[in-house]
Amino acid sequence: MKRILAGNWKMNLGVAEALALFTSVAEGLRGAGGVSCLVFPPATALHALAGARGPGDPKLGAQNCSTEPKGAFTGEIAAEQAREAGAEYILVGHSERRRLFCESDALVRQKLKAAWRAELTPVLCVGETLAERERRETRDVLARQIQRALEGASPRAPLRVAYEPVWAIGTGVVAAPAEVGEAHAWISEELTAAGRGDEPPTPILYGGSVDPKNAASLAAIPAVDGFLVGGASLRAESFLAIAEALRGDPPAH
Ligand code: 13P
Repeated sequence: MKRILAGNWKMNLGVAEALALFTSVAEGLRGAGGVSCLVFPPATALHALAGARGPGDPKLGAQNCSTEPKGAFTGEIAAEQAREAGAEYILVGHSERRRLFCESDALVRQKLKAAWRAELTPVLCVGETLAERERRETRDVLARQIQRALEGASPRAPLRVAYEPVWAIGTGVVAAPAEVGEAHAWISEELTAAGRGDEPPTPILYGGSVDPKNAASLAAIPAVDGFLVGGASLRAESFLAIAEALRGDPPAH
């Protein structure tokens, strides 16, 4: 399985800037192989990037969607609309949405359903806060988030999971390799309990302050199937340097 490099551009970049970054990343990765790349631009740039995208270029994802397919929901974007604008993937349950927009586990489950209804592949983000880690609740938090998100879901529905400890997002503090390995193992156990133990395995990405300096040591963790990168995905140079660290055969699980 190729490892995955995903860039979450969050609420950054206008259309022209997004196009320029996408083009640089696509050119930098062309012919390089080894990693499967996706980017999550702001919704305003999705359609333009889809138009510029060539075969083999990074795939596109949306950062959020409504639970509903259409209707009177001012300001919302349906998963179907994101799909039509060029998205193949979608972020669900990102901690910024859970924290800043009060998204509950129940809403996360509804958004996963919306993603599958629109034939998007969701990247389900899970992770504990610093207070939860200090109280040694990490395993329970991950179990709860995964169990509630996947309740009633088909084990064959396409899925990626991103482990993003909240305290490591945008802080420059990166989780230690042992902490990442342990959390990924717990996530794997939960996915197996949810019926996802069979081949192909559900890829589990790490996210939280990944940068060109720490990418190689994180990529050396056998349970890491890729990265979900925020800040360092906003410059082609740093994003491509992280791609380089992920390239090559992953260490055996
Ligand atoms: P940073 O890489 O900026 O810490 O953000 C991680 C993230 O939230 C990706 O979804």
